[in-house]
Amino acid sequence: MALVPMKQLLDYAEKNNIAVGAFSVGNMEMVMGAVAAAEELNMPIILQIAECRLKNSPLELMGPMMVSAAKNSKVDIAVHLDHGLKVETVQKALELGFTSVMFDGSTLPLEENIRTVKQVRQMADKYGATVEAELGVVGGNEGDGAAHEIQCTNPDDAKLFCDETGVDALAVAIGNAHGNYPVLPSLRYDVLDDINKIVDTPLVLHGGTGISDEMFQQTIMLGVRKINIATASFDNLAKHALEYCKPLEKANYFELSHAEVVGVYENVKRHIKVFSFME
Ligand code: 13P
Repeated sequence: MALVPMKQLLDYAEKNNIAVGAFSVGNMEMVMGAVAAAEELNMPIILQIAECRLKNSPLELMGPMMVSAAKNSKVDIAVHLDHGLKVETVQKALELGFTSVMFDGSTLPLEENIRTVKQVRQMADKYGATVEAELGVVGGNEGDGAAHEIQCTNPDDAKLFCDETGVDALAVAIGNAHGNYPVLPSLRYDVLDDINKIVDTPLVLHGGTGISDEMFQQTIMLGVRKINIATASFDNLAKHALEYCKPLEKANYFELSHAEVVGVYENVKRHIKVFSFME
């Protein structure tokens, strides 16, 4: 199997009425854990990293590792830049071999979001790469900085946006938020349904951490084809690392590294199963 354009995995998800999991990674152990889970279940995944994480996990180090992991995998994997904020970062990711890029212009005025995404579309086309964009505002925040207030995607704007930009995937805001939810969110299935009825573009659900299995599956039945999971993997990695270290006076680096891999593997495996209706 191979490194593939994300569009190929979105088409696969559409054909099979499932969603492909897009798992955020920040180090080698996270990449290894995610790939091991996908290979065990024989399911494709998306490996992604958000621009705001690059200060901890530099793109020029993470990029080649993610691309190489995909090329050497037994399953199909797309490598995606999540929440690209600068056009230059998008260009850098494309040069490193990412097969998909997101430009997040969700906080920009609609016209400016459209204009910039069109530019990103042209850049990505030179590499045969997939383009994701966001309309409406997903709550919380990826990384530090002020939390965004949720603004649900307007279905008519979504139609106009997809027609104008030709994006391959549209991230929608339906009451979802990045990070851990204080209480189970109420997702606006009515808004999702309205968008799905008039927009042909595959839809993306951000802020997957903490959404229940039933809610995930409900969104998939309403057209969601990619689901992003970040915090749950970071948290489960930290939990396993802590459990490993806690009883010890002296930790072993190699065992610690293994605990990190297992933390991510567990979380990714659980989500792939839910997103593909294996359970
Ligand atoms: P969570 O951190 O809530 O899982 O969100 C992930 C995400 O949407 C990344 O773009």
